[in-house]
Amino acid sequence: MALDRPTPNDLRAFWMPFTANRQFKSAPRMLVGADGMFYTTSDGRQVLDGTAGLWCCNAGHKRPKIVEAIQKQAEELDYAPAFQMGHPKAFELANRLVDLAPEGIDHAFFVNSGSEAVETALKIAIAYHRAKGDGARTRLIGRERGYHGVNFGGISVGGIVNNRRHFGAMLAGVDHLPHTHIPENQWSKGQPEHGAYLAEDLERIVALHGPDTIAAVIVEPVAGSTGVLLPPKGYLERLRAITAKHGILLIFDEVITGFGRLGSPFAAQHFDVMPDMITCAKGLTNGVIPMGAVLTTPAIHDAFMQGPENLIELFHGYTYSGSPIASAAGLATLETYREEGLFERAAEMATYWEEAVHSLRGKPHVIDIRNMGLIGAVELEPIAGAPTQRAFSAFLKAYEKGVLIRTTGDIIAMSPPLIIEKSHIDQLIGTLGDVLDQLD
Ligand SMILES: Cc1ncc(COP(=O)(O)O)c(C=O)c1O
Repeated sequence: MALDRPTPNDLRAFWMPFTANRQFKSAPRMLVGADGMFYTTSDGRQVLDGTAGLWCCNAGHKRPKIVEAIQKQAEELDYAPAFQMGHPKAFELANRLVDLAPEGIDHAFFVNSGSEAVETALKIAIAYHRAKGDGARTRLIGRERGYHGVNFGGISVGGIVNNRRHFGAMLAGVDHLPHTHIPENQWSKGQPEHGAYLAEDLERIVALHGPDTIAAVIVEPVAGSTGVLLPPKGYLERLRAITAKHGILLIFDEVITGFGRLGSPFAAQHFDVMPDMITCAKGLTNGVIPMGAVLTTPAIHDAFMQGPENLIELFHGYTYSGSPIASAAGLATLETYREEGLFERAAEMATYWEEAVHSLRGKPHVIDIRNMGLIGAVELEPIAGAPTQRAFSAFLKAYEKGVLIRTTGDIIAMSPPLIIEKSHIDQLIGTLGDVLDQLD
């Protein structure tokens, strides 16, 4: 009997996210398996994962402990209502997570993605001030070129033009700091020297709106999706000092920097700057199951714990907040990171990685290279009149040659799993070097 719907391998129905759909469907790149540092493609090739999936598979792929935990949890307790009911693993994971977080952070609110973590943190910030009787503090300050996911709060505080321009009015009462990507810092190895002064712009914004109208400042300690922008030395410290001075909450969006990317559990510890809230996701479950979290200080949490005890304190949450399978995956992931010392490993490999990434200086079209922890970015001169095309060609050529990189604009970003070996780094950078040599 003929089916009146597309066959399963028909590519029409799936509207792919953040993808050139027509281009993809004319020449699909299908992944069908993954193990350790490698993906297997549908045509049977091994592709080295230079991006930890989408900055999320920090322990590499098909990790036995995580696979087993998910299987076991599905059999034991598949789902438990997230509201007014609990299950042990969500509590256990929250405890483990706050143990890993900077000192002074001691609560975790679970969500399902980085975008949801951001919305949640912004809402908590506004509601926190209101709970303290400071209800005029509703303004949110983001940063140019910031990426905070794709929901309305996130694109409002975010600063990536294409993510905003098509979607009408944003949240009201949002302002933006200038980004930190300045020409003086070209070819930076690690934290750039110049630009701490850019944080002073916050004083201007505070003076303009009045400190008592501002709820929070949200920044990525290292911006990833916009093409790897590094915080200049002293910059995050200044943001912390200015926000503290004016009673404004500081939120670090650690969706990509969380879970070892810079060699410590969170970027806050790496930079030794303590925010009031941290958003995280991705590496929390090694990318295996959607999950994110907002981590907060007791001061924020406790501000809500007032009024009659039988009443809900925060009118916010998701059906899958802290779901059993995600919690089981999270616990097994944190255990894998700990057992294998993967955060320390990232710190150890960072110097070799830095040298390797910077060895591409001098290759055709390369106008900047920057790195930090196990993050590397190679910026290409855009083709006149055809921005993004050169980097996208590099992505396609690299994939053909067996390595997965990621591009945003004309910037190639790399963020490999923390299990990467020196031989993999050689393969990744060697292949990228060959690709750059062949680019138009
Ligand atoms: C800093 C930051 N925040 C938020 C997000 C959004 O996360 P998700 O895609 O899980 O919604 C990302 C995703 O890359 C991110 O890098």
